[in-house]
Amino acid sequence: MANGRADMAATTLALLAAAALCCGMAAAALPRVEHPARNDGTLSLLVVGDWGRGGTHNQSRVAEQMGRVGEKLGIDFVISTGDNFYENGLKGVHDQAFEESFTDIYTAQSLQKPWYLVLGNHDYRGNALAQLSPVLRKIDSRFICMRSFIVNAEIVDFFFVDTTPFQKKYWTHPGKHQYDWRGVVPRGKYIANLLKDLDEAMEKSTAMWKIVVGHHTMRSVSDHGDTKELLKLLLPVLKVIQK
Ligand SMILES: *[C@@H]1O[C@H](CO)[C@@H](O)[C@H](O)[C@H]1NC(C)=O
Repeated sequence: MANGRADMAATTLALLAAAALCCGMAAAALPRVEHPARNDGTLSLLVVGDWGRGGTHNQSRVAEQMGRVGEKLGIDFVISTGDNFYENGLKGVHDQAFEESFTDIYTAQSLQKPWYLVLGNHDYRGNALAQLSPVLRKIDSRFICMRSFIVNAEIVDFFFVDTTPFQKKYWTHPGKHQYDWRGVVPRGKYIANLLKDLDEAMEKSTAMWKIVVGHHTMRSVSDHGDTKELLKLLLPVLKVIQK
C-alpha cells in the first residue's frame, strides 16, 4: 500500500487484461501453424470451398476426384475456403454432419493430410464455436479450423481471414437466418483488431509468396459480386506489402 499509485496502475492493467480475456478481443498475434515445405522445397495442395452436403450435390464425386488428383500430386495439405457445412453450419461438436460431410466423404488416402479451414457465412448460421473447437480434432485430426490464422510453409505464408463479420448485411438484414456472432462483437472492434494483427503479420512475413484465403470474394463478376466492405477495409492492408 506504500505505493498507492503503482498499485492502482497494476489493478487497472489486471482489469484490462481480464476484460480482454473475457471477450477475446485484444489485438494479439494471429495463431500460427508451421507446415514445412518438402525436402525439395516444393509444396502441393488442393483448395475446396462450399462443400458439406452429406455427399449430395455431387460432393462425393468431387471428393473422389480430389482423392485422385491428390494422389497424383502427392499433396501436403488441403485448404477450405469455408461454407464447410450446409445449410446452417454445425449444431454442436457432436453434430453427425461432421462425419457425414467430412470424415466419411474425404476418405481417399491422399486426403488424409491436414485440412486448414476458415468459416463461411453458412458456418456462422450454426454453432460457429463448434467448428473452432479442438474437440473436432479428437474426432478427426485433419480438421484445423480457426477464425484468422497463418500457415507458414516456408516458401509461402497463407493468411486465413475470417471474412463473414465484414459483410454488414448479415448484421443488419439477416432475414430468416441467425448468425452466431459470439466472439466477434462488437463488429467494429473485432475487425479493427483483426486488420491490425494481419497488418503486423504481413509486415513480419519473409516468405517469397503471401497468399490470403477467405470465404468472400473481394472482386467477382458472378452472382454475389464484389464485397465492398473487403475492398474498403481489407484491400488497403494487403496493398501495404507491395511497398
Ligand atoms: C451432378 O453432376 C451431374 C453430371 O456431372 C449433373 O448432371 C448434375 O446436375 C449434378 N447434380 C447436382 C445436384 O449438381
